[in-house]
Amino acid sequence: MKRTILITGGAGFIGSHVVRLLVNKYPEYRIINVDKLTYAGNLANLQDIEDRPDYKFVRLDICDFDAICQLMKEEKVDGIIHLAAESHVDRSIKDPFTFARTNVMGTLSLLQAARLCWEPLGWHCHSEKHSDVRIPCRLYHVSADEVYGALALDNPGGEPPYGSDFFREDTAYNPHSPYSASKAASDHFVRSFHDTYGLPTVISNCSNNYGPYQFPEKLIPLFINNIRHGKPLPVYGKGENVRDWLYVEDHARAIDLIFHEGKDGETYNIGGFNEWKNIDLIKTMIRTVDRILGNPEGHSLPLITFVQDRAGHDLRYAIDSTKLKSELGWEPSLQFEEGIEKTVRWYLDHQDWMDNVTSGEYQSYYKEMYE
Ligand code: NAD
Ligand code: DAU
Repeated sequence: MKRTILITGGAGFIGSHVVRLLVNKYPEYRIINVDKLTYAGNLANLQDIEDRPDYKFVRLDICDFDAICQLMKEEKVDGIIHLAAESHVDRSIKDPFTFARTNVMGTLSLLQAARLCWEPLGWHCHSEKHSDVRIPCRLYHVSADEVYGALALDNPGGEPPYGSDFFREDTAYNPHSPYSASKAASDHFVRSFHDTYGLPTVISNCSNNYGPYQFPEKLIPLFINNIRHGKPLPVYGKGENVRDWLYVEDHARAIDLIFHEGKDGETYNIGGFNEWKNIDLIKTMIRTVDRILGNPEGHSLPLITFVQDRAGHDLRYAIDSTKLKSELGWEPSLQFEEGIEKTVRWYLDHQDWMDNVTSGEYQSYYKEMYE
């Protein structure tokens, strides 16, 4: 069935994987990627699919309510997968306003545009090909696990899981950073539009993603690049914080599944039951990069540099994704050992991509392609 799906933030890390998956998997769909191209947006992430006939990129700020409404009407959008956000905790500590603007007001702008477009249609769009076929509309909001706050470490010296507690769909929200507060607020707005107006919505909250095309200010790509170049590895605090890592393509598969088969008004947690203490993950990255580059074992360990901790640094995230498995049959496909090997090799093999980003050159790509 012909559908027109608007994906926001499709030039970012996770968004680019979602766009690629949908463009390849559903050639019958029309995919519109709306992205403002902030520092985190990089159209080179989508070079392999940019010429597909049913794919279109539109540079737009999601806070521009009138432009979003106009685009939705002109393109007869029947589904939205919303990933656009400011996503880096450290930046949110320095500049919380930008996070409130995009993550809260931007989400509100999409919700209101979707409501105004779809409510008069009874929350259904007509198929372009078959006017008797009515497609149920849906807005899918992609959110994060840190809206739930932070979990305790019961056994810091032991094996994972490091605590008995997990984030579940009914865990009370308790965000700590301006980033997580803005994501929590956006989740509340999404639920309020479902409960107040009947807007068909679904939400997912995912754990830390890793894989190709992640902006190299986040832990994994930053550290792989620094190890390669013999630069210091700034470990916040003692490196005791725990994150639950999921390969980005597994997240994209979950998003596809939830968008198509999740229930309206529901929330699904996505995670890999894959907890790592930062320092152990960093040592694994060092071992992997050194092995691939042919360095002697332990060669890059002296790069580890303990620095001042992140303010309000959440101690442990751990997601319970049982609901997604039991209701929709999703499971991660990749073991972490395989995923990290693939990821390290990807960054080492794509030094041109990395150089393009770290030099700022990637921001001229839009001009060459679209102006
Ligand atoms: P990212 O920072 O790599 O990409 C964000 C994208 O949004 C960029 O392309 C950027 O240009 C775009 N954008 C920012 N502000 C915009 C605006 N005002 N209008 C239009 N576009 C705008 O982020 P990511 O890591 O790919 O995360 C994507 C989504 O997934 C976010 O909502 C994030 O909260 C959520 N999430 C991320 C993770 C993770 O580990 N990275 C985990 C769980 C959930
Ligand atoms: O849990 C989901 C979240 O995961 C997403 O919502 C965010 O968008 C995403 O950025 C990520 O947040 P984190 O803050 O966990 O990711 P980050 O890569 O910034 O940091 C991972 C851990 O590594 C965290 O405990 C902080 C630590 N760290 C990070 C950097 C960049 C360091 O010790 N040194 C660093 O230089």
